[in-house]
Amino acid sequence: MTVIGSQQHLDSPGEPPPWSRQASRPYDPRWRGPDFTPASQAELPAAQAELWDEEAARDELMAAAAVNKWEAESIFVKLPPGLQQADLEGKVYVDLGCGYGRTLLYAARDLHPSVAIGLDISSVMLSKARAYADDHGLDPVLARGGIDRIPLPDESVDFVYSSAVLLHLPEEMVRAAISESLRVLRPGGVALFERCLIGWANPEGVQNKLMARLGRRVLRVAFVRTYRRRDIERIVRGAGPVSRAEIVPEGYKVLPKSLFTRSLGRLKPPIERLNRRASRRLRFKGFLVESWSVRLVK
Ligand SMILES: C[S@@+](CC[C@H](N)C(=O)[O-])C[C@H]1O[C@@H](n2cnc3c(N)ncnc32)[C@H](O)[C@@H]1O
Repeated sequence: MTVIGSQQHLDSPGEPPPWSRQASRPYDPRWRGPDFTPASQAELPAAQAELWDEEAARDELMAAAAVNKWEAESIFVKLPPGLQQADLEGKVYVDLGCGYGRTLLYAARDLHPSVAIGLDISSVMLSKARAYADDHGLDPVLARGGIDRIPLPDESVDFVYSSAVLLHLPEEMVRAAISESLRVLRPGGVALFERCLIGWANPEGVQNKLMARLGRRVLRVAFVRTYRRRDIERIVRGAGPVSRAEIVPEGYKVLPKSLFTRSLGRLKPPIERLNRRASRRLRFKGFLVESWSVRLVK
């Protein structure tokens, strides 16, 4: 395979190279499936949807998994390990913030749940998920909506899963998403949040801690939020009763520097401009970041 530097494609997307991994049919950026987003969206979900629509339109694999689409061999890149070990046979599976379907479609294809449901705030992500699902002959239920209000009845789900989503939400939405997961789970059901909660000992984490002293609004617009282990324990305790909770270190990994130099769409605080300027001067591409997974049994 001819190798072309990823930077070239990131900087000037142009025409996709012939070997690029793309859904075989064009996606429709308007979402025509079920939509549970409130008509009068609050400012934050609206800004989130806009941001993720933009990111997904540019490159959904980079947005979801920090992988350059032109280099990826498969849409199932970098699968989180916990999901691969999950027993979903014949079970009802829900993927919160499913994106283009990296984990949802993998689970639907290889883990044989009775139903696979993906919920996401971004119309573009969902439309791409539908296109990839069609390519793989899969038919997951896809719906648009915020994961802090899961549009499913109480005790109707066996396995709630989410990867790389909670880190982008304000703390109250993280707590609401975990609470909602517990509400929809059947007794004995499992909620697994992977690559979702990351440690504060990195540039944006330190910045968040400093900004926390200046006001809540700035914290709300941070693009990546970071936690100490005891913060996560507090959030989980506040989310609702569980029979078992595991907060497991996932180790350290390098996340793209670009993740830590942005904030949400229209709500750009001045700190973003400073971040971008500093980022341009830093030569390395990523930051070493610690993360935890959270596994809850109802
Ligand atoms: C980094 S991507 C991860 C996608 C997917 N979970 C994966 O691991 O490939 C984050 C996803 O969360 C979605 N998202 C962000 N905020 C959300 C919210 N409040 N409710 C539902 N989805 C949300 C975004 O649209 C995006 O698809």
